[in-house]
Amino acid sequence: LHQPLIDRYGRQIKYLRISVTDRCDLRCVYCMSEDMQFVPRSQLLTLEELQRIGKTFVELGVNKIRITGGEPLTRRNVIQLFDSLGQLEGLNDFTLTTNGTLLPQYAKELKSAGVTRINISLDTLQPERFHEITRVGEIKKTLDGIEAARTVGFKRIKINSVILKNRNHDEVNDLVQFALDRGMDISFIEEMPLGVISEHDRADAYYSSDQILHDIEKQHSLIPTTETTGGPSRYYRIDGTETRVGFISPHSHNFCDSCNRVRLTAEGRLLLCLGQEHSVDLRRVLRAHPLDNEPLRDAIIQSMDLKPKGHDFDLTSQPVLFRHMNATGG
Ligand code: GTP
Ligand code: 5AD
Ligand code: SF4
Repeated sequence: LHQPLIDRYGRQIKYLRISVTDRCDLRCVYCMSEDMQFVPRSQLLTLEELQRIGKTFVELGVNKIRITGGEPLTRRNVIQLFDSLGQLEGLNDFTLTTNGTLLPQYAKELKSAGVTRINISLDTLQPERFHEITRVGEIKKTLDGIEAARTVGFKRIKINSVILKNRNHDEVNDLVQFALDRGMDISFIEEMPLGVISEHDRADAYYSSDQILHDIEKQHSLIPTTETTGGPSRYYRIDGTETRVGFISPHSHNFCDSCNRVRLTAEGRLLLCLGQEHSVDLRRVLRAHPLDNEPLRDAIIQSMDLKPKGHDFDLTSQPVLFRHMNATGG
């Protein structure tokens, strides 16, 4: 019989985020520094190793896996991983977070692999702004990606928007309308201080979820719901529609008490918290025991004791975490 993964604070871990690469075809200003150095490919877990870890977690009671990055779809042959994880018994929610640029190419295969939901990052609807925020991107590629996901029949597509004061806070209602027009959901995210960035001061750019809620309520009636996707979003439904608006508010509404997740970096480091350094090197365990899975299982079970109570993000000081979001598993 499988023992569930429960940490020292009684939180059960049912959600694994797997980062398959720290690389990305975009360079979002809140995510990466301008001269980002990436992990050498030789240090990455192979797709087979990622599969083995995912399977082991599902055997230990995890029922939701999200593939993230970097941009996961830039990893070569990544569809193989989707195909194999998608077949795991006990996985109820198999999800992807992407910037969308490669969805025209992959949406169909992702659907066939059994991906249940896709979250697509989009912070602005203005082409020049999109280019400024992503440093290199073209909005058309992401918009085409969203259309591709809709066309192949994905339900409950969700837009993720990081809102920064004086950069895109004036677009909150435009983004809501974009989601509404397409029957999609949207989550607004407060920026988190991971890694040193140069373009803006994070304290100055802070725009709270409550402010966003207030902005939206000028145009729509928002009904609070207890619905959950098993992630950190608190959801409201736009009255009279199917669209849900979510808020991910690490600063204003800390959600660490209900944390149900851990993340695996592309090099096989299991991070017990997004905002802390507590981690276990699963790559070492896995490679030391290629045939016997017990040591991997044991290492995962024991890692629960390392899971900290929560993050202690502070926007007023320099980030304590040098790790950028792309190296963390979004
Ligand atoms: P759903 O499954 O749709 O609920 O997605 P999700 O919100 O769990 O995942 P997604 O990859 O879309 O992440 C949205 C935002 O939430 C990103 O900015 C993540 O970094 C952030 N996020 C996800 N999990 C955590 C967490 O445990 N702690 C913090 N502070 N942020 C998180
Ligand atoms: N703070 C909050 N969200 C971030 N993301 C990337 N960097 C940050 C950050 N510093 C978001 C992306 C994507 C999700 C995986 O994480 O926009 O939607
Ligand atoms: Fe790439 Fe996502 Fe980071 Fe933007 S936020 S650079 S799309 S990984």
